Amino acid sequence: MLQLSLSWLGLGLPAASPWLLLLLVGASWLLARFLARAYAFYDNCYRLRCFPQPPKRHWFWGHLGQMKTNEEGLRLLEDLGHCFRDVHLWWIGPFYPVLRFVHPQFVAPLLQAPATVTPKNMSFYDFMKPWLGDGLLLSAGDKWSHHRHLLTPAFHFEILKPYTKIFNKSADIMHAKWQHLASEGSARLDIFEHISLMTLDSLQKCIFSFDSNCQAKPSDYITAILELSALVMKRAKQTFLHTDFLYYLTLDGWRFRRACHLVHNFTDAIIQERRHILISQGSHDFLKAKAKTKTLDFIDVLLLAKDEDGKELSDEDIRAEADTFMFEGHDTTASGLSWILYNLARHPEYQECCRQEVKELLKDREPKEIEWDDLTKLPFLTMCIKESLRLHPPVTVISRCCTQDILLPDGRVVPKGNVCAISIFGIHHNPSVWLDPEVYNPFRFDPKTPQKRSPLAFIPFSAGPRNCIGQTFAMNEMK
Ligand code: HEM
Repeated sequence: MLQLSLSWLGLGLPAASPWLLLLLVGASWLLARFLARAYAFYDNCYRLRCFPQPPKRHWFWGHLGQMKTNEEGLRLLEDLGHCFRDVHLWWIGPFYPVLRFVHPQFVAPLLQAPATVTPKNMSFYDFMKPWLGDGLLLSAGDKWSHHRHLLTPAFHFEILKPYTKIFNKSADIMHAKWQHLASEGSARLDIFEHISLMTLDSLQKCIFSFDSNCQAKPSDYITAILELSALVMKRAKQTFLHTDFLYYLTLDGWRFRRACHLVHNFTDAIIQERRHILISQGSHDFLKAKAKTKTLDFIDVLLLAKDEDGKELSDEDIRAEADTFMFEGHDTTASGLSWILYNLARHPEYQECCRQEVKELLKDREPKEIEWDDLTKLPFLTMCIKESLRLHPPVTVISRCCTQDILLPDGRVVPKGNVCAISIFGIHHNPSVWLDPEVYNPFRFDPKTPQKRSPLAFIPFSAGPRNCIGQTFAMNEMK
């Protein structure tokens, strides 16, 4: 048989060396794999036919280039998507389909499924791995659920309560800077830059109890965090630099490595110092000393965290979690705050209501400082913040992978293996969910007139098992 087939190739028995056989087996294996992949791709396309597609810009690039992440791009996307108000199919190049979800009812099976059934799609997040390690944002599986369980107490109100003073102090520094600039006659300032420094200042104090005075003078650590955040966003847009090998040959790759190194050294040094104190004092005395200052920072909470078997977090774990909080907590909150100020500036009538509400609360108080208990007594301000987070969500999209077929409410099925982009921006602007979605109207969130919309119609902090662990922290800080 072998002789027959080889003679067909013009080769006699002597030429049928083991190498040739190996080559034939290898080629057949590759062909079989290629055919299996091609069939799987065809089958997937067939099953995805039930999802409508907006018109493609190019037969090869598909919808690539139509997905800009700036305000203008997001609005364009919405205009396109308005014909498709629940789920639609996008193509990133000729072979990579992504299902884009813009309706609360349809995201429920994805967001509310166990984290192992619809894990995060890591294509963007992987760039951050060398910086954030296996922190909550990037970890998966058992490690994630173990850490999520251990870290939840870090956001308990008893821990968050003393941070109100930190937020006040940071905001005061920023206001003093603005007053100074105004008195000098400055008419313009980049508000996002100032607010980012303020949120970083607060986070550094809440996580490490470290005051770098970064709002007044440059700090290497804070500059490195800002640089890392900017480099990650830049790389996401440069498809050809997505492979590590190429990226680390570039100047940006080198800067990324250097900034990571600096950030890690800072966090490591604080953990080492704190662990040393903890060991020399013992956890009982350590806690007693902390109780006097009434503030446990996140590093303390992470060092003291133990699971049911008494297992603690390693130094590497603590570093990953602290770095994750620093990253995830600054940019999002700064974006949220900047948009809130923008919306209140555009709507002086609502701005005045917020001012009156705060004035009323502080009227018989000296010093006039917001305290923890006040944070629940600012209903109108809360409505304004929520409406701003709806209109301008700081995280515009999150993505999930389906490890099994997912049944949607209308009977359609998302086939196993596909990536789903949950457009928070799309849901918040969907006209079939929100009346006049482009209008800034805080009364949508008036607790006195509860609306009949789905709880998933407003998800700036995502929802389900992998929602934002820092949402109370963020809401308090923004207030
Ligand atoms: C306005 C401010 C914030 C917004 C809009 C926001 C939004 C979000 C969203 C949408 C997610 C889900 C990400 C995904 O599924 O891929 C998330 C996750 C997360 N956020 Fe926030 N966030 C904010 C502030 C914060 C703060 C202040 C912290 C910490 C101090 C924080 C820590 C985290 C962490 C650790 C995760 C990952 C949770 C997990 O997967 O278990 N966030 N955030």
